[in-house]
Amino acid sequence: PVLVVDYGAQYAQLIARRVREANVYSEVVPHTTSAADMLAREPSAIILSGGPSSVYAEDAPGLDSALLDAGVPVFGMCYGFQAMVQALGGTVAHTGLGEYGSTQAEILDVDSTLFHGQPASQSVWMSHGDSVSDPPAGMRVTARTSGAAVAAFEDDERRLYGVQWHPEVMHSTFGQRVLTNFLTQGAGLKGDWTAASIVDDQIAKIREQVGDERVICGLSGGVDSSVAAALVQRAVGDQLTCVFVDHGLLRAGEAEQVQKDFVDATGVDLVVVDAEKQFLDALAGVSDPEQKRKIIGREFIRCFEQAARDIVAGTAGAKNDPSDAEQHPVKHLVQGTLYPDVVESGGGSGTANIKSHHNVGGLPDDLQFTLVEPLRDLFKDEVRQVGLELGVPESIVWRQPFPGPGLGIRIIGEVTKERLETLRVADAIAREELTAAGLDRDIWQCPVVLLADVRSVGVQGDGRTYGHPIVLRPVTSEDAMTADWSRVPYDVLSKISTRITNEVREVNRVVLDVTSKPPGTIEWE
Ligand code: XMP
Repeated sequence: PVLVVDYGAQYAQLIARRVREANVYSEVVPHTTSAADMLAREPSAIILSGGPSSVYAEDAPGLDSALLDAGVPVFGMCYGFQAMVQALGGTVAHTGLGEYGSTQAEILDVDSTLFHGQPASQSVWMSHGDSVSDPPAGMRVTARTSGAAVAAFEDDERRLYGVQWHPEVMHSTFGQRVLTNFLTQGAGLKGDWTAASIVDDQIAKIREQVGDERVICGLSGGVDSSVAAALVQRAVGDQLTCVFVDHGLLRAGEAEQVQKDFVDATGVDLVVVDAEKQFLDALAGVSDPEQKRKIIGREFIRCFEQAARDIVAGTAGAKNDPSDAEQHPVKHLVQGTLYPDVVESGGGSGTANIKSHHNVGGLPDDLQFTLVEPLRDLFKDEVRQVGLELGVPESIVWRQPFPGPGLGIRIIGEVTKERLETLRVADAIAREELTAAGLDRDIWQCPVVLLADVRSVGVQGDGRTYGHPIVLRPVTSEDAMTADWSRVPYDVLSKISTRITNEVREVNRVVLDVTSKPPGTIEWE
């Protein structure tokens, strides 16, 4: 892979995505990883990200020059650029002359590796206090700005490259070209990581892992689990049974949708488990978000274990012959876990645990299955491409994300059957109106949240009401790692608000969440 070394800014994930957009596989690693460990992964190239620090700060993260001497192509950006300069014996000066925001860069050599094929003047996104005053020996300076005499350099011999700016952000007009030039010209990579190649690789891996044993897949009807199921079906066919857990935390019409959109289209073997009572009993009296997530994660697994036993006993799963259960036990559980789920559950590159996604941080310790997670390295848009490649119906591929724990994490407070019913009706109204307004593809998703422990005074008809607020949380996003609140037209919001307060008795107020991520997350819990 191309390794993106994360120097602690939010840019590393974005860089990894941009590399993948150039059809090259990449992963993020924390800067605390040793050079030996990074090199042991046989990276095809290394990118050093930006970061919040000055190279002169007391706790400034360093760069082991062994990384630069290993013969692996390296590209430093912003902080990574300055770290390279220090490691190679150049000078980074405290000039007091920072540059922040859009800046014009003058390209000194339009035939250079990074800038070849681009105009001699381009907009670049800067964010630095210190500047490079002397480039390291052997480095050819290829760009400058008014605030940075050394704004880019390269050495084709050693395959070392760097820019002072952030080529990964959209405001750097030719940023993607610069990055692609590094990958293809500088590092000599082919750019052959495509949806089709992911499908081939994963099918081979799944076959190797599963052999002739049986597999079950937790199917939610969402994009991720559907694409994961389709991949496993392609790999091992009838060895797969899908399990749809109706945990009572679903939105209106969800179970029917799965049957219609996925099962009918793929012919996959499906078992539906009615587990409403089991989940609601387990959640009774619980209002802490992490506790809810862990309980839901655990109960999911308990359902899968029961389904596995039923399949072996021949009482579930149409395509199974109980007589060969002993030779072919159900050993594996397929999950549609994505890269962001792993990162946010604290399983990624040294990141904090923000929340326990039900299928990662929410798994019980005594798990009996081995996990099959063919999408674990992918972002959502990549999963969608893989889904299209596999012929998964578009009605599923383009569905908005919906979290596995469902409405359970959209009721702030204890989850009860009555509260679920209230939220389900309000959610259906919001979805109906957003769809009617043609906004489904503009909006990434729109959580509808019930503040069950909050009441406010209202007036309806001639009387006083004392009801609960509903929060609308429409967001736009590229990958759910960051998001902005979506500017839904006022008349659409107004219609949703009027309908919810008219049609849902317990609700007398509708509010709009206007927080980006960060600092808010998309879901409220
Ligand atoms: P947050 O709230 O972390 O959400 O900004 C990011 C994306 O992940 C979804 N989400 C989940 N999906 N299991 C899932 O399958 C979970 O436990 C979970 N928690 C959040 C959320 O809807 C958003 O798309």
